[in-house]
Amino acid sequence: MPDAKNLPPNVPEWSQSLGDGVVSRPYGRPSKFEADVVRRDVEWLTASRQSSVSFTPLHRLEGIITPNGLGFERHHGGIAEIDPAEHRLMIHGLVEKPLMLTLEDVKRFPRVNRIAFLECAANSGMEWKGAQLNGCQFTHGMIHCVMYTGVPLKRLLEEAGLKTNAKWLLPEGADASAMTRSVPIEKALDDAIVAYAMNGEALYPEHGYPLRLVLPGWQGNMWVKWLRRIKVGDEPWHTREETSKYTALLPDGQARRFTWAMDAKSIITDPSPQAPLHRKGFTVLSGLAWSGRGAIRSVDVSLDGGRNWRAARLDGPVLDKALTRFYYEFDWNGDPLLLQSRAVDETGYVQPTKAALRQHRGLNSIYHNNGIQTWHVLPNGEIENVEVA
Ligand code: MTE
Repeated sequence: MPDAKNLPPNVPEWSQSLGDGVVSRPYGRPSKFEADVVRRDVEWLTASRQSSVSFTPLHRLEGIITPNGLGFERHHGGIAEIDPAEHRLMIHGLVEKPLMLTLEDVKRFPRVNRIAFLECAANSGMEWKGAQLNGCQFTHGMIHCVMYTGVPLKRLLEEAGLKTNAKWLLPEGADASAMTRSVPIEKALDDAIVAYAMNGEALYPEHGYPLRLVLPGWQGNMWVKWLRRIKVGDEPWHTREETSKYTALLPDGQARRFTWAMDAKSIITDPSPQAPLHRKGFTVLSGLAWSGRGAIRSVDVSLDGGRNWRAARLDGPVLDKALTRFYYEFDWNGDPLLLQSRAVDETGYVQPTKAALRQHRGLNSIYHNNGIQTWHVLPNGEIENVEVA
């Protein structure tokens, strides 16, 4: 209960004296009353915090941009704290002129700004076998969306001069895991960026300071952080991260590999298990949709587990390969609900049910689960993660 002395008609305590002066917080931070809006992890999920994942608090965010302090992190060897003065980006292999670039060198190339989502291929992976984690932070929080500033990778490759047999790139990170992935040259020459800023300021160490690779629409694992080297070759390298990991075992025993693009997906962020309903009546339902194959065309919402669908309202920028915010306003009479959302992207692809996904890919996968999520709203407003048949 609020303290009555601060409520009208009284003069609240914060109006009775001067507040702190400017620069009392040289780097701003949220109100202390927002202290629960933080990244979280699931302790039993991984053996150590160095090779682990934290999750974006999607249920407490608005719009489409993830604040720099709240984007999920996925590290395989902990956070590298890099002194940019001692960092270099090497470009070598099948090039005419190998390059050894400082951060300042990279900043002398023409810049681009691009808003893009990054989704880990394992996002929602724990839900393949059935409803498991209670909250969209945990089921869908391996995603963030920021504005990157950097130089098109194409520009750097032009500077190095690609040889005619250049077909693949091997970006490598400077962290303890030395993350490496094979990237086809077509993507590098299309929309890949070597980024040094996110949301207007230098990358945060968690996200690859001072340089990271940005591959819009493609699985997060390939967006190499702490980027120190790009080798140009004529075939893929079949690294650990694209053989034993980031592949999916299909029911016939074949492995699905090089599944780069993230298919269309959506999630209702509020209401959701961590954001229960507190009262009946007019209710604002809010969520996020995205596609690695283009812009979101439309989102549908169901209140009854997929029997009836209604069009959601998209609001804010609807950008290619970026998060898109949707809303659906309705009157809640206190009856139980089965909330679902379904995204359609500009290619016409419709987000599938989990059952349809399992039919094709079986149960051995953890990657690329873009199935429709169901939230069960109970009469008391509490919400749980369920599946409908
Ligand atoms: N790059 C390096 N060098 N080391 C890593 O551990 N993790 C990858 C990718 N790039 C990783 C990396 C994975 S699996 C993902 S999903 C994304 O970074 C996560 O990016 P984020 O931590 O900025 O959210």
